[in-house]
Amino acid sequence: MFRALANSTTPVGGACRLLFVQVRNTTAAAAAKTNAPDTKKPDMVHLKRESKPRTKTVSIYRWNPEEPDKKPYLQDYNIDLNECGPMVLDALIKIKNEMDPSLAFRRSCREGICGSCSMNIDGRNTLACICKIDESSKPLKVYPLPHMYVVKDLVPDFTNFYMQYKTIEPYLKRKTEINIGDKQLFQSVEDRKKLDGMYECILCACCSTSCPSYWWNADKYLGPAVLMQAYKWIVDSRDEYTKERLEQFRDTFSLYRCHTIMNCTKACPKGLNPAKAIGELKALLANVATSPSKNSATVGPDYK
Ligand code: SF4
Ligand code: SF4
Ligand code: FES
Repeated sequence: MFRALANSTTPVGGACRLLFVQVRNTTAAAAAKTNAPDTKKPDMVHLKRESKPRTKTVSIYRWNPEEPDKKPYLQDYNIDLNECGPMVLDALIKIKNEMDPSLAFRRSCREGICGSCSMNIDGRNTLACICKIDESSKPLKVYPLPHMYVVKDLVPDFTNFYMQYKTIEPYLKRKTEINIGDKQLFQSVEDRKKLDGMYECILCACCSTSCPSYWWNADKYLGPAVLMQAYKWIVDSRDEYTKERLEQFRDTFSLYRCHTIMNCTKACPKGLNPAKAIGELKALLANVATSPSKNSATVGPDYK
């Protein structure tokens, strides 16, 4: 820290550098006067490393498709937390790099943005890169997302999830012609605000895989992540397929398997509320809520 301040070119850095030099000169002068060993010199201050190992056991779900006869099992790894970053993803990377290169898991951004590292950690679906390692003496238990097929170890198979996402046509759809490159698709500040709390979704599937309805009907029920995305397009003032998008859910499974258990909202590592979006979607479909206003009158008369 001292070095960082001493090298700074900002006015604050300059003042600190001056202070630092003064402190050092004063201390050196005092030491010369007393002729005693000076142990308080600022330039001798450095971070003390923890010397006592802080061992943590990490129990990880293992399954290898190349050994199909072998049942899944938990494998224990002991790591020293003094030698590891603070997050669960740091521990997994350390284990893979230093102890067992055969361990498979997904990660990319390591800052809660890409959604790749979603997994079940100590019984909770979350992102490994933003989940702090619990420093208690209990082993840390790491499983893949529940009720998904497993590709290998901590890597779940997202095929069904992405197929379901595809069915909601997650892109802007227009009926009125626009000349591409002519002008921007205008959206007012108020209309843009309606997307807050939904556009932040990173499709990590922590919510869907914590939903009991999704566990039992993942083939027919779309689950909270996909339904919230569908609702996002429905309330987007630029999209003109509101009626068609709503009609897609008029069956017993795709939307109405949600029983408002709220596990999804509790699980979301981004603090979003898919259960609320599903509730609003149901209200729209039941005609008890007013359909969002659109830029042009292309929404049918059934939807006020
Ligand atoms: S609120 Fe609906 S989507 Fe969310 S966990 Fe419950 S049943 Fe699943
Ligand atoms: S709503 Fe939250 S938990 Fe669900 S997919 Fe989006 S970011 Fe992940
Ligand atoms: S590595 Fe991207 S969200 Fe965790």
